[in-house]
Amino acid sequence: MNKSFLRRGFLWLCPGFVLIGTVAAQQNDRPSPTADTFSRDGQLYVGVDYYPEHWPKERRETDVLLMKEAGFNVVRLAEFSWVWLEPSEGTYRFEWLDEVLALLERHGMKAILGTPTAVMPAWVARKYPETLAMQSNGQRYTWGSRKDYSLSSGTYRLLSERITRAMAEHFAETPNVIGWQTDNEFAGPQDFSETSRIDFQDWLRRKYGTLETFNQSWGTHFWGHIIRDWAEITIPDCTGEGMWGISGNPSACLDWRRFNSWINYRFQADQVKILRAGNPDWFITHNLMGLNPTISYYELGRDLDFVSWDNYPVLSRSSQPYAASMTADLMRGVKQKNFWIMEQTAGPLGWGIFTDTPMPGEIRKISYQQLAHGADAQIWFRWRTATAGREQYWHGLLGHDGRPLRRYREAAQVAHEYRRLEKMLEGTTVEAEVAIIYDYETIWSLASQPGYAGNNYARAIARYYNALFRAGINVDLISPEVDLSGYKLVLAPHLVILPDARARKLIAFVEQGGVLLTDIRTGVKDENNLAHERTLPGLLSDVLGIEIEEYGALDDRSYPVFSEELFPDTLAAIHYVDWVTPKSAAVMARYDQWHLEPFAAVTRHEAGRGIAWYVGTVFQEDSFYDHLIDRLLEDAGVERWVDLPEGVEASIRQGDGRKLVFLINHNETEASVAIEPGKRDLLEGEVLGDRVMLGPYGVAVIAW
Ligand code: GLA
Repeated sequence: MNKSFLRRGFLWLCPGFVLIGTVAAQQNDRPSPTADTFSRDGQLYVGVDYYPEHWPKERRETDVLLMKEAGFNVVRLAEFSWVWLEPSEGTYRFEWLDEVLALLERHGMKAILGTPTAVMPAWVARKYPETLAMQSNGQRYTWGSRKDYSLSSGTYRLLSERITRAMAEHFAETPNVIGWQTDNEFAGPQDFSETSRIDFQDWLRRKYGTLETFNQSWGTHFWGHIIRDWAEITIPDCTGEGMWGISGNPSACLDWRRFNSWINYRFQADQVKILRAGNPDWFITHNLMGLNPTISYYELGRDLDFVSWDNYPVLSRSSQPYAASMTADLMRGVKQKNFWIMEQTAGPLGWGIFTDTPMPGEIRKISYQQLAHGADAQIWFRWRTATAGREQYWHGLLGHDGRPLRRYREAAQVAHEYRRLEKMLEGTTVEAEVAIIYDYETIWSLASQPGYAGNNYARAIARYYNALFRAGINVDLISPEVDLSGYKLVLAPHLVILPDARARKLIAFVEQGGVLLTDIRTGVKDENNLAHERTLPGLLSDVLGIEIEEYGALDDRSYPVFSEELFPDTLAAIHYVDWVTPKSAAVMARYDQWHLEPFAAVTRHEAGRGIAWYVGTVFQEDSFYDHLIDRLLEDAGVERWVDLPEGVEASIRQGDGRKLVFLINHNETEASVAIEPGKRDLLEGEVLGDRVMLGPYGVAVIAW
């Protein structure tokens, strides 16, 4: 449901306002980028994941008052509380949640409810053991954790629909329930049960129609795996690693992974239908797990109003600042719109051992980084640290003692600052001229066959992404299905799965004036995970102006690479090398070693009105990617507007005639950035000179 339509819709229904509605529609036929993600009164949502059922009732008022004082206006509730809501089959107990919602309402706070299906009550598992997924060894999961469900179990789907419907009906009129989170972090276990196998067979039958098409698509002639009856199909063994990789058929494994993604989508779709009928004004979202490779978030996001994600960058400080930024750009790319943070680092993290605590300023910095990339809500996980259960060491804003101390105060600071910024932020998003294609099917193909040892798709993308980050350039991570015509530069690294239609789309993008970068392994396979029969890079040969007759993994070997055009030093090719024969392309970097001498390491080819680049190896040095990005931006006419010191990030949100520059210091030392003088610092409220000074983990939001 498009909320901006709803909000404007009521104007259109009043005759006196018809003109206003029409003019607004003519001026801007695209909905505001914050229409779904901002509150109706233009507020940014800020708050916490709250578990009132874990604490004595007497504590609730204190909690809510503290939240209010902190400037919070929203909480997420109930995503693990099925047993509290339905203690036995068909008996519902909503009073406690009604009371909590009423208390929040009295203090002007909104709530998002979770459909509580990620943890089945003990009675479900006992009464209906088939609702627990089966492991590959034939044993069902033992009840006592979470996400152990079988999404192929009709019983589980039915029970989940029932609790969702009961909640949707009960809370339909509750004024401060504004939306829903479906389940929690979808990515259930692979289910090896009989029910799952039949579900998979049905899915394949619907997909392929005939056994002939099916057998061709899976290449079942190999090892005599021809299927003569749909019922003969088994769940493939897609585990394994190293030289031999998986033991199952790669085409079967790709479909098995697609199926596993789809059953999560289907499970969610059942709930979405019920929630939409409950109250069409509610938004529906889901808390994604960033770069989690098991589910296509493009598919899962289809039925949602916007996506949310759970951001815990302190878990891997060493890959900060890049990873959380790249993930945010993918999250925005899922639906090509702003998103929410549904859970975020509030303290030391861990179940058994825990991480360092966020340093002073770090909780705030993490929030601003996401805001800068299009996060329109900020919800910390969790309010108070649990005293019981698996997550006693996954700390909240408050410790076990429930006192509002340093971390609480820092979150409160963010909330109060957001109140000052929200007018400027409403209607803005990140508008990128550069896109990177992010493809789940390639991830799934690589999961079975990485190709060369240590290969990893996220890393293959990050090599380029990180260089764009260092250059201060906004980037969209997008599905291969997205229209490319709005971009000047498109990077399609490591696109192993390249159906012909997608290759043609990349060719058209270049011919129409775009700049394209692609690299190793691109176009090796078709949509069925069968190798293309054409000489590499297949359909892309002409547009790239190259041919690749041979390739190999380098294992421990490396080769020096030289370039007069791109970089001054001698760099090293590692991991893998394509023997790239330039046809009509210009050689931008080359080898001088032995048999590799005739081949190119990097090529550039002017084709149609655009330019297509190919990188035929992995470079050891980040500096290669920095030099390359400089050239690509130049070719594409994308302006480099800022010179950033190491560890400082820049991002721009714009819209409605406003442009806001975010500068974020990921260092624990001071940093400064040179800017055009005369800009306004929105947090400090002062006009800036020609440098912005940033303290450790400091941030600046500047009206540009
Ligand atoms: C995820 C889940 C939360 C919590 C945290 C910490 O993000 O959604 O419920 O379990 O991890 O483990």
